[in-house]
Amino acid sequence: MAKLDILIYPDHRLRRIARPVTRFDGELERLVADMAETMYAAPGIGLAAVQVNVPKRVVVMDVSAQRNRLQVFINPQLSQLAGATESQEGCLSVPGFTDTVQRAETVTINARDVKGRAFEVAADDMLAVCIQHEIDHLNGKIFVDYLSRMKQQRIGKKLRKEQAASVQAA
Ligand code: NI
Repeated sequence: MAKLDILIYPDHRLRRIARPVTRFDGELERLVADMAETMYAAPGIGLAAVQVNVPKRVVVMDVSAQRNRLQVFINPQLSQLAGATESQEGCLSVPGFTDTVQRAETVTINARDVKGRAFEVAADDMLAVCIQHEIDHLNGKIFVDYLSRMKQQRIGKKLRKEQAASVQAA
């Protein structure tokens, strides 16, 4: 396994629309394993392949308190979105920032596992919020898109500056 580099907002590669996975093979298994390692090391509760510069519809998540319940969603799709809930969201591609985002409260997720087997999950709470956040990534969307233009500019400016400083230091 290998830890992968996470793209940082406002990197334009985070705007790519991810393609569906068509081959459930060893390459996909390696990608999922590397993404899980990257997510746990960060640490984070969810990671989409787009964030590690792989524009495929692959998501790993672990919303458990013990951090021992890895969930893998390949080609996830949402249906039966209902209710509304607000929570503080953050993102591994937007380090150091959190803000309130409104999402559906409950959703049904249809996806495939790493072997290509289809499954369905009825999700609420953190799982529902997290999968909506991750599927946004697969569609080139980031949680800051829900914030005011002023906040987006402030965040983009700060992160660009930090990136420039870290490149210089490297
Ligand atoms: Ni994110």
